[in-house]
Amino acid sequence: MGKSSTAARLPRSKGTDMATIYEAKDCVRKVKYLVLPERNRRIVQEFMTILGRREEFNEHGVPIPNKVVMYGPPGTGKTLTAFHVAASLGLPLIVVRLDALIHSHLGETGSNIRKIFDYASVVPCVLFLDEFDAVARTRESGDEVKEMARAVNTLLQCLDEFGDSSIFMAATNLETELDPAIWRRFDTRMTYQLPDEKDRRDYIRLLIGGFGCEEGAEAEACRLLGGCSFADIEQIVLKAKRKAIIERQPMDGSHIGLSYEEYAPAPVAAGARS
Ligand SMILES: Nc1ncnc2c1ncn2[C@@H]1O[C@H](COP(=O)(O)OP(=O)(O)OP(=O)(O)O)[C@@H](O)[C@H]1O
Ligand SMILES: [Mg+2]
Repeated sequence: MGKSSTAARLPRSKGTDMATIYEAKDCVRKVKYLVLPERNRRIVQEFMTILGRREEFNEHGVPIPNKVVMYGPPGTGKTLTAFHVAASLGLPLIVVRLDALIHSHLGETGSNIRKIFDYASVVPCVLFLDEFDAVARTRESGDEVKEMARAVNTLLQCLDEFGDSSIFMAATNLETELDPAIWRRFDTRMTYQLPDEKDRRDYIRLLIGGFGCEEGAEAEACRLLGGCSFADIEQIVLKAKRKAIIERQPMDGSHIGLSYEEYAPAPVAAGARS
């Protein structure tokens, strides 16, 4: 983790910092590969282009987008995209710690949300809130209704007042649980899915890289790992590499097959497969 070079102090709650700071150079290191489906790649690219040409947009009176929501199954690159955006913009990534943010005391969660947004208004950064549904649940839901409704209201205000010197990014696996009013505040929305065949092949190729492997191992990995997330694919290919190293052999299909069996990826929700 990088040390903050910024002057403002991170707000604290429950005796700890409310977020972890990753300096831009740490973000660059974190994102070795990011395989994005064409649509998301285009969205991210356009987003960067606009931020790089702020004046032109100001001249035309067209607001600059800076509120991004990402949703989709685990291990598909949402968090990685936040690192990528921070790295590309040369900004620190401020990863909010939900355990510190959410508080059982009345009004405390809302007050914490305000503090972290205040921080982001002073320090140009990419402010990232993972598991966003935990704070942005629809106000109709039954549990801890009052406190969370208050928190959602504060979040709405903070999003409305959010200046354009920083970027706000949020991620969730449970987009259907987000409050509709919150949903509307985002100018950029990206949906994530399990990799399709092309993205799976590209990713496996990147992961194998210069590691020696038998002909056909890559194709076998591609076939076997259909329906796995990027994160699962990464773990299985690493496991297969370890097996090959132990045996002092080039990696082959059997290393991949055995690693897949041992790793036993969690079943994915119907509809998330591609
Ligand atoms: N699109 C991708 N391209 C390259 N690597 C990926 C991609 N998605 C996931 N990975 C790999 O899996 C790891 C976990 O991904 P990430 O944390 O971005 O998933 P996520 O979508 O945020 O999941 P969650 O919903 O569980 O938070 C990454 O660090 C990376 O190694
Ligand atoms: Mg994540």
